[in-house]
Amino acid sequence: MSRQIFLLILFSIAVQAFFRPIYSGGGGEQDCEKTSTSSPSGSTPSASTPSASTPSKITPKYSYTCPKDWNLTTRTPSQFNGQTGFLCTKFITAPASISVNSASELCKKENAALTAFENDEERLKLHDEARKHIITDLKLGSGGVAIAGDRLPQCVTQNRTVLEENMKNPPCNNPKQEYTLPESAHTNAEFLWNSWAPLEPSHDIAGRVSEDCLQMIISSNNRNGKINDIYCTVETFWNYGAYCGKPVDIVTV
Ligand SMILES: *[C@@H]1O[C@H](CO)[C@@H](O)[C@H](O)[C@H]1NC(C)=O
Ligand SMILES: *[C@@H]1O[C@H](CO)[C@@H](O)[C@H](O)[C@H]1NC(C)=O
Repeated sequence: MSRQIFLLILFSIAVQAFFRPIYSGGGGEQDCEKTSTSSPSGSTPSASTPSASTPSKITPKYSYTCPKDWNLTTRTPSQFNGQTGFLCTKFITAPASISVNSASELCKKENAALTAFENDEERLKLHDEARKHIITDLKLGSGGVAIAGDRLPQCVTQNRTVLEENMKNPPCNNPKQEYTLPESAHTNAEFLWNSWAPLEPSHDIAGRVSEDCLQMIISSNNRNGKINDIYCTVETFWNYGAYCGKPVDIVTV
């Protein structure tokens, strides 16, 4: 037997040792676990190269999982996701319109926080799930999903004179600078600030409230799947769900 074949056999034993506990303890068809086992390279950042002298140390160290009913969403490894390359996400539905702040409470009840999509694949998945809820199930013509996002404090005003002044200069007049994502969103915002609906953010002011939060629009026009600035506290502005996220559970294997 050549040395190469010997190493190959050793390696396959190590790989089986890694997978077996996940398959037997996995609890079936949960989306997050399925994704985790089907992309071992993404979930085993510490896999070491097999070495004939130390076969017992070949097994990878970590597996990333999400609670039942949460999706293991793939993202680019970054400081926002602790370099794991994953976030647990969930679209929590609301049967009637809620404010962004109320949507945030829905996330908090599940030990999570409002998040936002980080790439186009994630954007489309959220869009599809929200569209099914709002258009197919609730039979509405259009709607929205509350996502994370805060207008910069220095750009928030209910005074139209101040707003006009703000809108003359960056950061308050710059769609890539005037909003920020809280740390709890665990999201790199670069893609998000390129996802505004046409003519948004519009900085509308209604009575004593201004549009300082964010939603994803579900509609049949060119605003569909794009983001819009919206009131944080008004319950009637078309949010029929919340996009929530929380860090993955890191399991030592
Ligand atoms: C979550 O996973 C389910 C089941 O695979 C899928 O139908 C849904 O679109 C996913 N939702 C999001 C927001 O990715
Ligand atoms: C709005 O701001 C301007 C400029 O600071 C100020 O003169 C005015 O009194 C404010 N209006 C209200 C209604 O507070």
